[in-house]
Amino acid sequence: MTPILEFRDLSKVFFKGEQRVHALAHVTAEVEEGELLAIVGPSGCGKSTLLNLSAGLMEPGTGEVLYRGQPLTRVNTQVSYVTQKDNLLPWRIVEDNVALPLELGAHAKLSKDDRRERIARYIELVGLTGFEKHYPSELSGGMRKRAQLARSLVYEPDVLLMDEPFGALDAQLKLVLQAELLRMWEGTGKTLVFVTHDLAEAITIADRVIVMSSRPGRIRAIEHIDLPRPRDVFGIRFVPGFGDYFERLWSALREDIHQGQEV
Ligand SMILES: Nc1ncnc2c1ncn2[C@@H]1O[C@H](COP(=O)(O)OP(=O)(O)O)[C@@H](O)[C@H]1O
Ligand SMILES: [Mg+2]
Repeated sequence: MTPILEFRDLSKVFFKGEQRVHALAHVTAEVEEGELLAIVGPSGCGKSTLLNLSAGLMEPGTGEVLYRGQPLTRVNTQVSYVTQKDNLLPWRIVEDNVALPLELGAHAKLSKDDRRERIARYIELVGLTGFEKHYPSELSGGMRKRAQLARSLVYEPDVLLMDEPFGALDAQLKLVLQAELLRMWEGTGKTLVFVTHDLAEAITIADRVIVMSSRPGRIRAIEHIDLPRPRDVFGIRFVPGFGDYFERLWSALREDIHQGQEV
């Protein structure tokens, strides 16, 4: 089967004045349709760059990104992207933020009723019913993430890219949102590419974890996570096998810490 996303020998160098930042080097990997893939790596190793490339928001220096076998040459409208920075529009209430993707492209043809139904359905799915009329500034960090998620899901994309979505949240809320994400995603056959710097989170969510090296980001290790589904986010640390996965992935990441890199 053709991978839904494919990175072929990707490299990326950024120029900032005189400075040259080598963000990615020779990244080759495939994302299978329907898989839940986590990408972990030290900060600055090019994780966000890899998602930006997958969304077609920038071009690789060398190599190519393929979506369903076709090289990406423009913005990839088949994927939805929960970016690292919260980019809700502050002047729009929640339901109008969620409505945004439906105002564009083919979705603009949806009838008013269909549109209203979909918006309400996704707001409910992420647990924001009752907050439709709130502005982003009136929401907690977790609720803003939920709103971002609703906006990303409302046009029912085949692939969801998420960039450290729960990174800034407290430990308990993080688990709750991981559980909700799995509840929405497991068994749907849709693809998830989830960037995190939290190993336990990667193992909890993913079918497969890619560990990247420090900059320039390369693939250091790939691990299949054969823990049963549906997964219980709160108890998974005690499931046999979890510790071994953690150990193996940690030893791949640790090499970069020895170089004095921040993880
Ligand atoms: N648009 C850009 N212009 C210049 N440098 C950038 C740009 N985007 C990312 N970088 C640099 O590339 C490196 C990788 O960035 P990023 O992909 O954001 O890493 P990560 O998400 O793994 O923390 C960092 O050193 C970052 O400063
Ligand atoms: Mg990043």
